[in-house]
Parts: sequence; C-alpha cells; structure tokens
Amino acid sequence: MVIPVDLGKNSYDITIEKGALSKAGEIFEVDRKVLIVTDDGVPEKYAEAAAAGYGQAVTAVIKAGEASKTPENFVELCRKMLEAGFSRKDCVVAVGGGVAGDMAGFAASCYMRGIDFYNIPTTLLSQVDSSVGGKTAVDLDGVKNIIGAFYQPKGVLIDPEVLRTLSPRQFACGAAEIIKMAACMDRKLFEQIERNGIAENPEIENIIADALRIKTRVVEEDEKEIGLRRVLNFGHTLGHGIETVTGLYHGECVALGMLPMCKNEPLRKRLEAVLKREGLPIGFSDGKGGLSGCCHGPDPEAVIAAAMHDKKAEGNTVVTVRLEDIGKFTFEAAGSEQLVKDYLEVFG
Ligand code: GLY
Repeated sequence: MVIPVDLGKNSYDITIEKGALSKAGEIFEVDRKVLIVTDDGVPEKYAEAAAAGYGQAVTAVIKAGEASKTPENFVELCRKMLEAGFSRKDCVVAVGGGVAGDMAGFAASCYMRGIDFYNIPTTLLSQVDSSVGGKTAVDLDGVKNIIGAFYQPKGVLIDPEVLRTLSPRQFACGAAEIIKMAACMDRKLFEQIERNGIAENPEIENIIADALRIKTRVVEEDEKEIGLRRVLNFGHTLGHGIETVTGLYHGECVALGMLPMCKNEPLRKRLEAVLKREGLPIGFSDGKGGLSGCCHGPDPEAVIAAAMHDKKAEGNTVVTVRLEDIGKFTFEAAGSEQLVKDYLEVFG
C-alpha cells in the first residue's frame, strides 16, 4: 500500500508493506553511500537489512532514548559522513524510532546544506507520527526539539512485521498517537478503535494507514505548523510537562495530557476507555488504571512550569487543542493558571 504525501517539490511516498524492510534496496535509490542511523534498542538485523544493496553503508548506533538527541550526537553523525567522504548525492537512512529519525533527519538537512533522507520507522509511534511530516531536531539544555528544521524525507518505508519485536509498553505509546489523531479528526476510526482496539486488531496495517491518512492530510494543508498542524499537539502541552517531571514514556504522557483537554466528562470517559484498553495510563494512583508503583501524581505547578517552557509557548500563553466531541476540536490559548485548573480537574 502506498500513501502519497503531496508537498509540491517535497512530495514523497509512504510505503506500507509486510516484509518491506528487506526491500529497502528496491524501493529507495541505492547506488550511493548511506549513513544508517539506528539505536541500540533496535534489532541489528533491521539496520543490516536496510543497508543491504547500498554501495557503501556506514552505520551509526546511538543509545536509545531522548537523552541521545544532543547537539554532540548530531555533530558525530555529520563527522561520520565527512570521514567517509559523503558527497551531496549520498544519503541518510533512519532505522528506528523517533529519536533516530529526528537525529538522522536533522543531520541530513545540514550536511552539505541538505542531502537525501529516508525513514524506516520501527516503532508504532514513529510509523504513525514522527516519520512523516519532516520534523527533525535535537534538544538543547533540557528543551526538547529546540534546534531543528522542517526537512521532508524522500521516502518512508513501514514494515508492520517489525512491530512484533516491540515491547507492549512501546506499542501502547504508538497507540496513544493513533487515538490522538482519531479523536480529533476521524470519528469513524475512533469508533472502530472502540470496537476492535489497536493492539488486538489483526488489521493493524489498515489502522496505521488510516492514521497516516489523517497525518498526511494535516501536513499537506499546513507543513510548517502555523495553523491546522497544531491539532497534532492534542495532549502534548500537558503531556510534555508530565514527561519532563515524571520521565514516563512520551505516548503515556500524551495519553494523560489528552484527558484534561476534553470539554465534558462523557467525552473524557470515552477517551479513557480506549486508552485503558491499550494499556495506557489514565491517572496516577487511584485505581482508575493509574501507574502501578506511583503513589502520587506529579506536582501540578512543576508540570505546568515545564509545559510552559515548551517551545510552542507564546509569551504567557500556549495554544491548546480542546476536544469538543469525537472528530471535533478547537484551539484555545491558555495561561498557566488555566492549565493548572484543567490538570487538577482530572488529576487533583
Ligand atoms: N508529531 C506532530 C507533528 O508532526 O506535527
């Protein structure tokens, strides 16, 4: 299955196919050098399969986790290309999750002012969200994605088979991003998830494709996130704050961050039910499906302070995405007082 992303001269295809990893050489142009960027949580055979067929493959393995998204690691990737004599016709391929993709894409965007970049996402989260849309970045001094560029890949290759080696917790994080998009923009998909779930669904390929159709539509309309694309931040404002303070996984924090953004309780309950079914947290401690071993939720003031430090904050306010109904959202500017109130209403 191929989903085209129509961005004028930056257009590309997303190929979704079981077993596609070993066909990277057929799908991408391989008669050149390649820097494969992967992480130490990804089975080595995935990077090897992706590298097969390239004239010369150089592999960089970064440590899994957000802490690897440093300017130093970015420079190291560029240095590897320089040392191997990469020219403007050579390319970078990410084989991994969002961290590998963000780092690899940013290195590709800068090396010789931009060389080709391909993405082979191996986590559900990166398959349905971060591999598409051209966001690349590294973190600086604890601020996520503060140095980066919009740099579209030349192609994205999604092999659903690789999800077999994903831990249930990581799989659930990808499910959170699918639920995020369905809740805001696709009532039919949300209802389908309510009926059949994501993890248990034998048609995961179709769910990935449906989520990517939403993402593609949004990115085609607003590549640089000046309008509609901000909808993809549903749950991310509070989510980033929770992530900074607790160190929980990104998707888990997005799940928690979505709940206070629901406009009414029945809607929130509906969302809670689908999140809980996928093994995602809906609270911190209280028998509501919260996180085992975690007795108290994080301090709201600390969460909101971290959320307001997020780069998307504009002065004293941040644009939040509020869910009015399944498939219906609004943007609302909120200050820290409002965010504390929202947070406490659900987790207080
Ligand atoms: N992950 C959100 C976006 O691509 O805009």
